[in-house]
Amino acid sequence: MKDKAYSTPRGTADILPDEIPYWRFVEETARAVFERYGYKEIRTPIFEETRLFNRSIGNATDIVSKEMYNVSATGSDENESFSLRPEFTASVVRSYIEHSMEKTQAFRKLYSIGPAFRHERPQKGRLRQFHQLNVEAIGSTDPALDAEIIQMNAQLFGELGLNKHEVRLNSLGCAKCRVIYTSMLRKHLEPAKQGLCPNCRTRFDVNILRVFDCKNPKCREIIKGFSVSENMCDECKTRFKTVQSYLNASNVQYRLDSALVRGLDYYTGTVYEITYPTLGAQDALGGGGRYDNLISSLGGQNLGAMGCALGIERIIIALKSENTVPSDKNIKLPDLTAFIALADASLKETALKLLADLRKAKISADTDYESRSLNSQMRMASKLNVKYVIFIGTSKSADLANVKEMHTGKETQVKLTDLTGYFK
Ligand code: HAM
Repeated sequence: MKDKAYSTPRGTADILPDEIPYWRFVEETARAVFERYGYKEIRTPIFEETRLFNRSIGNATDIVSKEMYNVSATGSDENESFSLRPEFTASVVRSYIEHSMEKTQAFRKLYSIGPAFRHERPQKGRLRQFHQLNVEAIGSTDPALDAEIIQMNAQLFGELGLNKHEVRLNSLGCAKCRVIYTSMLRKHLEPAKQGLCPNCRTRFDVNILRVFDCKNPKCREIIKGFSVSENMCDECKTRFKTVQSYLNASNVQYRLDSALVRGLDYYTGTVYEITYPTLGAQDALGGGGRYDNLISSLGGQNLGAMGCALGIERIIIALKSENTVPSDKNIKLPDLTAFIALADASLKETALKLLADLRKAKISADTDYESRSLNSQMRMASKLNVKYVIFIGTSKSADLANVKEMHTGKETQVKLTDLTGYFK
């Protein structure tokens, strides 16, 4: 019996060659913008100890309680438990602490690009393996940094041609005011507790802020009217105002949203999310915020930090909805310069030597590997959109090639030994 056909696991996708120009465009634009703002690239492992994510993202979050992929090696009797990263922040902070970065240069701006994994219900814009552009600035509590990161996001979206993005902004205050406003929130919700969904009744006891994450309309109605940022301490209110004034000064548009709490536990102070109107249900292009307690809670020093992550798949959906075709932006991947067409298979050795010479001279080139007829090799060359076809074995003299310029149809005879120079 034949095996059932193999396919990608649910919620994952192959990124086929036709899609790559979008990916390159997004990644290269992001790298250029991040590096212009002083960020340096960091690459961390795709899996980490599970306890790192539990501790940083929080046991009561959906990510940790339902969505992490645990990994183990077949035949391994290790006691530690490992998980695929559901995001980057925990790993980058772990790396910052592990390499004592604060000793050489406490303030670091770090970015990463790569896959993350969450076992969510797949739908448009929501995958189980997705990719993020991630940014962390560790070692400063300066509100200017909050504004700068949000402004950098806006600049990136502008450079990508995504001009309809919306920034929603809130503040979750410091640890001290969190104790106060969560107890106020408890009082606010207590009378309506029985009306909350079973999940939120648990959240009420375990981590009450998570009630804000609930999509259930009844829970949303009950929590409506409670504003975290209005119940913060004066210092946090002033900081939040400063962030807003910096954003105003740099002309970044935003909307205050008192219900925005973000789905990860490490946030303190500024939080924000960026949405795009054409994305549908999964409309968050990205989000981030401050996490001034995370470094110390993972064993590092008491240092402020701020970061964000943007979802590449969603950025690409938004690009397509805007008809921002990569070729319009002149980022189409280059086609091959030359295709070597052989009149006879016995000329393979000559063709391979020529190909090697061309490629050594940094001229992109390819040939036929399917023993096709000359006509069919020509069709192949047109499909590849090469600039020139080099015919071998069609000239009377064995040391000459006919070179056809595809654009004009003009043919020239070139000595095999002069070919590399001809394309230079
Ligand atoms: P997050 O909001 O969980 O934040 O994810 C950031 C972005 O990643 C989302 O807005 C979305 O575009 C994309 N994303 C998340 N989950 C999925 C999914 N299942 N499928 C497709 N795209 C997805 C974080 O991850 C924080 N670590 C951001 C951060 C960095 N905060 C501070 N530093």
